[in-house]
Amino acid sequence: MNEQGLREVVAAQTSISDINGQQGRLWYVGYDITDLARNATFEEVVYLLHNLDLPDRAQLAKLDTFLVRERELHPFLARMMPTLAQNTSPMSMLRTSVSASSAFDPDGWDESPEAEYRKAMRLIAETPTLIATFDRLRTGREVVPPNASLGHAANFLWMLHGSEPDPDDAATLDTTFILYADHTLNASTFTARIIASTLSDTFSAMTGAIGALKGPLHGGANEEAQKMAEEVGKPENAEAYVRERLGRHEKIFGFGHAVYKTMDPRATVLKEMCRQLGERCGQPQWYEIFSALEQTTFEQKGLYPNVDLYAAGVYHMLGIPTDLMTPIFALARMVGWTAHVREQYANNRIIRPGSEYVGPRDRTYVPIDER
Ligand SMILES: CC(C)(COP(=O)(O)OP(=O)(O)OC[C@H]1O[C@@H](n2cnc3c(N)ncnc32)[C@H](O)[C@@H]1OP(=O)(O)O)[C@@H](O)C(=O)NCCC(=O)NCCS
Repeated sequence: MNEQGLREVVAAQTSISDINGQQGRLWYVGYDITDLARNATFEEVVYLLHNLDLPDRAQLAKLDTFLVRERELHPFLARMMPTLAQNTSPMSMLRTSVSASSAFDPDGWDESPEAEYRKAMRLIAETPTLIATFDRLRTGREVVPPNASLGHAANFLWMLHGSEPDPDDAATLDTTFILYADHTLNASTFTARIIASTLSDTFSAMTGAIGALKGPLHGGANEEAQKMAEEVGKPENAEAYVRERLGRHEKIFGFGHAVYKTMDPRATVLKEMCRQLGERCGQPQWYEIFSALEQTTFEQKGLYPNVDLYAAGVYHMLGIPTDLMTPIFALARMVGWTAHVREQYANNRIIRPGSEYVGPRDRTYVPIDER
């Protein structure tokens, strides 16, 4: 096997999500992503990915109550945050805080399936609070405590901006969370499953996953896509911009995919959301720039947009600072990561791929003075 990057290699069986890269389809537990994006709430998707079925009203209410109760930061993290806000990037803060969360989780080192479920839900509940608290502190503003009357997405905007969000903005953000929640064995989820497969703990697996997500070829791409759109400035500049970048053999962020060989179905949903949000908030230029990039990148390189392109425009128009876009990806993907880790624990075998040795052979040790 000399295929680089493990393409096409089946490294795990999963009941959580599935992709058809040729047709551009994605399913969560058998539900088409477009159907879920249109109709479900993020909280329902949290339940679905972890329980492999949509909740009834009582099940959803129980989950909501748990998530709302666990939003508040533990004093240990709240005390750490001012230092992190002064000294670290948002993704480093998140990696550190999620790692530190292991210190006081009420379930401690209990590794029963029930305890693992609660740990997962606590991480999902606290991640928005970590990001918003960090942003408030680094910008010298007062921390806004979670609002128990708001859902996951609306509460995040509340804590970030300090005011009740427009319901349409909250619904838009909620849909982006659904779209980002899981995506089979992407690099960060695979990282999480590898760590879990050694029977290491959930917090270690999440810390590793955040590290893998940070890179610009993975979750970091949404931030790069936004920077790119700002550099392009107006749709007319897109063609020359892409030509120059490709000429320098540089990546066009938010394009291409290891699995999809056609339009990423999440990008289709996000594209329309970006257009509608642009019209609603009087900023149509982002959609115009991103779609000019889409057209010219396809013409010049045959590449389709992935999830990160139009997500960047949506987040920007929701008032989210560019360097929080990848942490927000992590906030949503925390659901998939934790679901995959629980699935790994339930049927574990240590993940240990082979390698093909291509170095020299049959060498004899030469004493150091004779080399
Ligand atoms: C996602 C990504 C890492 C997948 O990489 P991959 O599986 O190696 O991609 P492919 O095998 O389909 O690449 C085929 C060709 O297109 C090129 N290509 C792929 N994505 C590209 C991009 N975004 N910009 C420019 N060229 C790209 C590759 O370099 C390769 O070129 P070559 O044949 O001249 O060597 C890659 O598309 C990428 O870097 N995209 C930009 C970052 C990004 O948006 N990441 C988020 C992914 S959700």
